[in-house]
Amino acid sequence: MQADDDQKANGADKTEEETSAMPRLSGKKIMMDMPWLEKYRPTVMKDIVGNDETLTRLRVIAKHGNMPNLIISGPPGCGKTTSIHCLALELLGKANYKNAVLELNASDSRGIDVVRNKIKLFAQQKVTLPRGRHKIIILDEADNMTSAAQQALRRTMELYSATTRFALACNISSKIIEPIQSRCAILRYTKLSQKHIMKRVQEILQLESIASFTPKGLEAILFIADGDMRNAINSMQATYSGFGCITDENVYKVCDVPHPVQIRKILDDAKNCDIRAGIMKMNGLLKMGFSTLDFIGTLFRVTKTYNDVDEKTKLDWIRDMAFIHARIADGLDSPLQLNGLLAKMCLSTKGKKNKF
Ligand SMILES: Nc1ncnc2c1ncn2[C@@H]1O[C@H](COP(=O)(O)OP(=O)(O)O)[C@@H](O)[C@H]1O
Ligand SMILES: [Mg+2]
Repeated sequence: MQADDDQKANGADKTEEETSAMPRLSGKKIMMDMPWLEKYRPTVMKDIVGNDETLTRLRVIAKHGNMPNLIISGPPGCGKTTSIHCLALELLGKANYKNAVLELNASDSRGIDVVRNKIKLFAQQKVTLPRGRHKIIILDEADNMTSAAQQALRRTMELYSATTRFALACNISSKIIEPIQSRCAILRYTKLSQKHIMKRVQEILQLESIASFTPKGLEAILFIADGDMRNAINSMQATYSGFGCITDENVYKVCDVPHPVQIRKILDDAKNCDIRAGIMKMNGLLKMGFSTLDFIGTLFRVTKTYNDVDEKTKLDWIRDMAFIHARIADGLDSPLQLNGLLAKMCLSTKGKKNKF
């Protein structure tokens, strides 16, 4: 008994110690360590940038209240999940949000049982809401739902449409079965433009009071993100917490992508038909540990903005890259493929196929 008490007392001591230590350790620190993605996830629709036309439609829905069943489709990191949450919050308000919104995402099982039980039960529940408002079921990453589960959803959607509306987010809308597509208004998001990402990135830097960055560093973040805000914010945080300064060198180091300046040099060699120099540089990059896919991915993106050759040559290069990319993706990822690619690019520049 005594021992028991002692143990309890020790345990209590420990938890007390821990709890008293936590605020000291955490407090501000945990706020700083929080992923910026979550810390700066917009909570009101006006903070979401880009896709202006689509967002205007959502704002109208938020204002008038009669939300149709929605499918929002688009590439990753363009604000689909965020917009649906903001819309639900604006429609229902904080007080009702907890009771009147059911969210299921890819981490929840969403097989046919869940549709039959959980979703249906929620749809049947009575929740008192202001006039003209509906309960909302959010199905994030809905393109991962099995088609049987989607089939089961059809009827539920119709039966409870008086009280419950669905909001689906997906990457590819064609993976949602036709009958559901025809019951929903489909909104399409596109990749965010560099301008929009830049705006948000700068806002975050300002809010975090970070001054140690260079314009080139931010450009590098935009280049790597390629229209994906999640990627941009993540790379920025990773670079800042790793190096304390956001320069282009650091960004490419953290994100493990070949530096576009080096890739440009290879393109210069292809332009000058200097295949030896090109291959040497390429081998240098591969030796640094970049995979062939990293290489060709960056090569393509740098080529898009490479204006030292005429348009026709550029398009020929991009076509050659596409073929080689497909082969590499099929599993033929040897440097030999890239050597072949460089040779082809040199050929396209000269247009003298017999010479090689
Ligand atoms: N249009 C946007 N405006 C502002 N922040 C955005 C936008 N899109 C994405 N983000 C940021 O990226 C993160 C991921 O966005 P999310 O909505 O989850 O993307 P997805 O389209 O993949 O669902 C959010 O935490 C948010 O900080
Ligand atoms: Mg999402």
